[in-house]
Amino acid sequence: MAASMRVVGLSLSRSSNSFKTVYVSQRCYLSAEAATKVPHENTARQMQTFASLQTERQEEASRTVLINCPKGVNEKKFIKYLSRYGTVKKYFFYETYIDQQLNTLTEEYQLTEENIRLRFLVCSLVKDITSAYFPECSVKPFGSSVNSFGKLGCDLDMFLDLDGISGKNTGKASSPFAIEFQMKRVPSQRIATQNILSVIGECIEQFGPGCVGVQKILNARCPLVRFSHQPSGFQCDLTANNRIAIKTSELLYIYGNLDPRVRPLVFSIRCWAHIHGITSRIPGAWITNFSLTMMVLFFLQKRNPPIIPTLDQMKNIAGAEDKCTIEGHDCTFSSDLSKMKLAQNTEMLDNLLLEFFTFYGNFAFSKASINIRKGKEQNKPESSPLHIQNPFEQELNISKNVNQSQLERFVNLARDSAWMLQQDTVCSPSRSESHPWGLAALLLSSALQSGSKGKRRKQREPASERIKFLLESLKTKQTNKSDLNLSHSNGKNSATES
Ligand code: CTP
Ligand code: MG
Repeated sequence: MAASMRVVGLSLSRSSNSFKTVYVSQRCYLSAEAATKVPHENTARQMQTFASLQTERQEEASRTVLINCPKGVNEKKFIKYLSRYGTVKKYFFYETYIDQQLNTLTEEYQLTEENIRLRFLVCSLVKDITSAYFPECSVKPFGSSVNSFGKLGCDLDMFLDLDGISGKNTGKASSPFAIEFQMKRVPSQRIATQNILSVIGECIEQFGPGCVGVQKILNARCPLVRFSHQPSGFQCDLTANNRIAIKTSELLYIYGNLDPRVRPLVFSIRCWAHIHGITSRIPGAWITNFSLTMMVLFFLQKRNPPIIPTLDQMKNIAGAEDKCTIEGHDCTFSSDLSKMKLAQNTEMLDNLLLEFFTFYGNFAFSKASINIRKGKEQNKPESSPLHIQNPFEQELNISKNVNQSQLERFVNLARDSAWMLQQDTVCSPSRSESHPWGLAALLLSSALQSGSKGKRRKQREPASERIKFLLESLKTKQTNKSDLNLSHSNGKNSATES
């Protein structure tokens, strides 16, 4: 509370016994309410003359104080505390510079509404082909196309859902053996799935409009048909008999929408990993985006207080309508966001980014398994370098492909990134145009890239250039703003506002 006392002194000296507008800076998470208020005001202002706008801004500034809200202090309590000294009519919490970078990156790279619609349209086109054999089937997108973590350019994962066909055609309830009723007798469901995908793959290759480069990858753990859909530019993976993955997508979607910090953190870390060659589109011993997302979620469950609940907690609040078992696996969890007690954690994104790197830079990967169901490290049941338990098929390790050297690259990069974020010079915009700062420094640093192979780095240059441009434009915006409005202390936390 010592810091707040200082703050109150500031407000009283500004305006003898009350203040009308309090713009509270930094160390409180930007509330949605505040985020919408300001653009609305700006729109109204566009109608004003230059002179009246300047006057209004000056008057507003004279009624405004800037208050530093210490890290970890609850926003509502903070405002309540300030209200003891006068009526607070208006306030907002604004983000640190690095927080803005994370949010900007997410806004620029997330799937647009049009792109999502196009993904559903391609599924519908594929369904037109598959329904020649299975009239009642459906083709559904899953994975990052729908789980709220999709980045422009991500692949389109599709699931050919044959469930219920048998029920409709025969009048029997659907069962795990439903597909076999559509087939001549085959020894296993896996073979049935392979046969179906083989035929469908053939049809897509021969008749699929705009579908090229069809590959049947039927011996994979999860058999699939891969092809490019030229008109949309999507790389498509069609699977069948994969209903658990739809449930996983729903779970990630819920996590992505539970707290406004989840998506920017996942996006930025995925971006960081991609640029430094930790993840790759090419299958191999790399960490995948899916694994990385699980690592971020686990980290958020481990914060004190936690930012998101564990899967077991979500199961405990589930109602009868949420009950779900797929192929013997319990996939029950509550999908009702309102039942979830939202976290009281008020950490800022810049701190979470730093803590993520510190957490995994020191994680006991040799002994511990990452488990979002429990939200706690478990003993590793097998010797893979990285063990991340599949949330529903609990016997599976989703990162079984990752080898020791890829894990070490991730750990080293995480440590270097944590170190870099702790340097004062990196945390705020520098006056020099040529020096990237914050997230841009992490994404562009050649020191961090020393772990990557030169050839791979070269291939990634265009992406990093685009990100550099994006973040630099933000930097310019911020620098201008600081020239006009900010009384710059540590680059993060003091401002006057209009
Ligand atoms: N999946 C899984 N177990 C794995 C790999 C994938 O359950 N070992 C499921 C997840 O639901 C995942 C989906 O399959 O979201 C699609 O996998 P993938 O395309 O690899 O991941 P995405 O989440 O779609 O991420 P990206 O943007 O890289 O495509
Ligand atoms: Mg995908």
